[in-house]
Amino acid sequence: MRKAGAKKAIFLVVGARPNFMKAAPLIREMKREPRFLPLLIHTGQHYDPMMSDSFFRELRLPRPWMDLGVGSGTHAEQTGRIMIEFEKVCFAKRPDLVAVVGDVNSTIACALAAVKLNIPVAHVEAGLRSRDRTMPEEINRLLTDQISSYLFTTCEDADQNLIREGIPKSRIFFVGNVMIDSLQEHRILAGKSKVLERLGLAHQNGDDRYALLTLHRPSNVDDPALFKGILKAITDLSETIPVVFPAHPRTIRQIRRLGLEKAVHLMKALPARGRARNRRTLITVPPLGYLDFLRLMSRASLVLTDSGGIQEETTILGIPCLTLRGNTERPITIKEGTNHVVGNDPGRILRTALRVLRSRRPPLKKPRYWDGQAARRIVSVLKARLL
Ligand code: UD1
Repeated sequence: MRKAGAKKAIFLVVGARPNFMKAAPLIREMKREPRFLPLLIHTGQHYDPMMSDSFFRELRLPRPWMDLGVGSGTHAEQTGRIMIEFEKVCFAKRPDLVAVVGDVNSTIACALAAVKLNIPVAHVEAGLRSRDRTMPEEINRLLTDQISSYLFTTCEDADQNLIREGIPKSRIFFVGNVMIDSLQEHRILAGKSKVLERLGLAHQNGDDRYALLTLHRPSNVDDPALFKGILKAITDLSETIPVVFPAHPRTIRQIRRLGLEKAVHLMKALPARGRARNRRTLITVPPLGYLDFLRLMSRASLVLTDSGGIQEETTILGIPCLTLRGNTERPITIKEGTNHVVGNDPGRILRTALRVLRSRRPPLKKPRYWDGQAARRIVSVLKARLL
């Protein structure tokens, strides 16, 4: 039995790169409530220094209270290992709440382990739907939402998705976007990054013209023919505008496997400080830290990506974004933002990129509650319900 007046222990789970910027504002806000005891648990789904440690440093996340160290594996291996290790920690500490963010394997694994122990789950970024069940993230989202007690949404279409799936309204809270909390908080600091200079992309008059690419979905990189087709479109684009490509470890592995290192100008590391103007028009570099990437995004003429979060970040930054997927779980970034869903057909990618580069930028719009206050709203709901 817990003592009356004891602090409410909240496990906040992170595992993969896109979780860290969502958890950082949450843990800071939870710490401001003296009756909460927030404990950060890292599953270890991502473990490379540039996929994990650098984010802890730059986002000023506290060291994890517990690191489960599960690493990579097939979906069942990874999800199963996280569940087994996380359940042990739940047995030992018996938290009052488990908070999970996003849609990665760590999200569903910890939510499922917790709910079976009758520990309530809060899901931050609930209700997003691509309606594409071949995406592992869509399965993670659907299942996590079904078993969560508190569903915190970033937009009103997510509320509608949840209601359609039979989730009672009393569990749904439209609070805004915690990822944008982090972006707002770090914009000024990111402005000090020298990444443009290091890549030879900065122009003296501030007119830096380049496109930024990220690509890591299995559906885009695992099939060699498809992956090569996308890279051909990017190489063609790079004849019009330089392209910088910070590549995910899985994408780098595929580049090496297919012998494409030269074709994409794969660099082992970011060029050294103060490098002279780069003459390459396509540069591929290892994953970048949060601040360097934010700097690159905010000065780009165009972003091409298959990531989820980048669609939201470019919307707030007002940078045109081409999503190289057949669908998006974030339609608000099309309706109220800068996003164009173009699929992975090389011809269409190139044509749309050139058209968008020629067009005038649409006026900046900001989805409701993407205002840097989402974590505060979430914690005030939790205070009202848990204390
Ligand atoms: C995961 C998420 C995806 C998210 C992405 C962001 C799931 C199902 N997918 O995909 O939604 O967009 O993170 O990056 O949870 N690897 C390393 N070092 C690392 C981590 C991964 O080398 O630190 C390599 C390993 O070879 C691993 C592969 O990347 O097998 C895939 O990693 P994994 O965590 O399984 O999925 P992601 O593709 O990163």
